[in-house]
Amino acid sequence: MDELYQRLKSELESKLTFLEDKPEETIDSTIKSIWNKAYGISISAKEATKHPLPELSDKQVTLLHQLIEQRINGKPLAYITGRQNFMGVELVCDNRALIPREETEILGRKALWICQKIARKKLKVNVFDVCCGTGNLGLALASLLPDIVVNSSDLSEEAVDITRENIKILKLEQQVSVRKSDLFSNFESEVYNGNVDLIVCNPPYISTSKIAKMDLEISENEPFMAFDGGMVGMKVIQRLICEAPKFLTKGGWVVFEVGEGQGSFIIQICENSQLYKKIEPVTDVSGNIRVIAACCRKGENM
Ligand SMILES: C[S@@+](CC[C@H](N)C(=O)[O-])C[C@H]1O[C@@H](n2cnc3c(N)ncnc32)[C@H](O)[C@@H]1O
Repeated sequence: MDELYQRLKSELESKLTFLEDKPEETIDSTIKSIWNKAYGISISAKEATKHPLPELSDKQVTLLHQLIEQRINGKPLAYITGRQNFMGVELVCDNRALIPREETEILGRKALWICQKIARKKLKVNVFDVCCGTGNLGLALASLLPDIVVNSSDLSEEAVDITRENIKILKLEQQVSVRKSDLFSNFESEVYNGNVDLIVCNPPYISTSKIAKMDLEISENEPFMAFDGGMVGMKVIQRLICEAPKFLTKGGWVVFEVGEGQGSFIIQICENSQLYKKIEPVTDVSGNIRVIAACCRKGENM
């Protein structure tokens, strides 16, 4: 077993390059998670490093080599293992939706902090997770906070399907539901207007022309719709800023991820809209604005 592991390690050292936005992927986490998959266990790269490796049969070793080959040929690791970890939650992950990135945990942590603050004053916190993808943000919040209710949504039918699967696997049906929606269009109802405490959103924010120039591992495998933010990358973000206040309670928050370099301009859009009384940027370790949290000035009829 040790010998096989070492052989795979030296093979991958020469053949595999790792993407900056998946820091959890290393030679070790790659081998360990794929090894588990060959054995019959779906586990994320992050989680796989915490467990001892199972003994493989000859048939499973053959499968291991095939899966390693797929990885070398550019198939994303999470689409091979079928799992990605987000804020400690193991999620089903395949090419129906974007692979949740560790950088999005900046948004998750800010949202968690806001939810906890609201939960001190309210028995039940109402959350929207729009552009939900695998459902990662809403599901992570719900699994950490039993007193929140989440409405997740996505324009992609396939993303809605995978979120539904994750809700079931995580047994969060009492707290999380999902529907197809173009941003808020399928939530136009008195039930929601002015009643949402927190909207979380990791929108598509790459300009259309830049998508083809992304690493092939990303552009050839993950859904185009997950990245496409229109001509300058801000099509969905601009709608979000304008449309969110209608649904927010007075003092409710919208918290969303932005692309590197977009932060200052988007803060200006929020300020110019006059819809928000507080606008808080959140930076990554390098000081780039990656999340904006905006607190709604009024709650209704905006
Ligand atoms: C960057 S991905 C984020 C997925 C997930 N929330 C995450 O953090 O990994 C953006 C998601 O927005 C969805 N989307 C794109 N345009 C949309 C729209 N107009 N309304 C709702 N969802 C949209 C895409 O299908 C994709 O799932």
